[in-house]
Amino acid sequence: MTRVVVLISGRGSNMEAVVRACESGEIDATVVAVIANRPDAAGLTFAAAHGIDAIVCDHTTYPDRNDFDLALANMLEELNPDWIVLAGFIRILGAELVQQFVGRMINIHPSLLPKYPGLNTHARALDSGDTQHGATVHFVTPELDAGPVIEQVSVPILEGDTADELAARVLREEHKLLVKALKRCVKGNASFTTP
Ligand code: GAR
Repeated sequence: MTRVVVLISGRGSNMEAVVRACESGEIDATVVAVIANRPDAAGLTFAAAHGIDAIVCDHTTYPDRNDFDLALANMLEELNPDWIVLAGFIRILGAELVQQFVGRMINIHPSLLPKYPGLNTHARALDSGDTQHGATVHFVTPELDAGPVIEQVSVPILEGDTADELAARVLREEHKLLVKALKRCVKGNASFTTP
């Protein structure tokens, strides 16, 4: 069985979508663990309630980024995942860790990359006067939010949208997009190639 580990930092609604798709058989894989870098990440409760190993790797307890990355890499190695899904994981990972898992680590980002890497994507799209926004699932590479795109979805920006309204509209599409992208990965239809 294909083994998936999901990394989260908070709410975990994208992780929930992945777990439900694996449980229903839509994705032919099992989520073997959910790892959060914050002990209070709400998604951990959902994971545990679904019989999934819910693990905390609290970045504040490590002296520096490198030590956190090493701890996380050790956890991941032990879990031996075929796929690692960053689903609302708000923490930059170092190049060494990324290289160790490159080609089997994917991320969901709330913008039409290459537009708006980083944070506050919804406000930035509104401030720029865009009429379309969206979300992207891509392979993780050492450069932030810059890896090869697997799937994208466009979402219209409506007159008078606030950042929160836009975020909610995008999030509904993110859930479907992440399931679609991971399904492709698991089926071997989204292989990583370096340019
Ligand atoms: C999602 O919108 C996700 O795309 C975003 O955080 C949110 C997490 O929601 N991720 C990033 O901004 C990563 N750069 P969730 O915890 O409910 O899935």
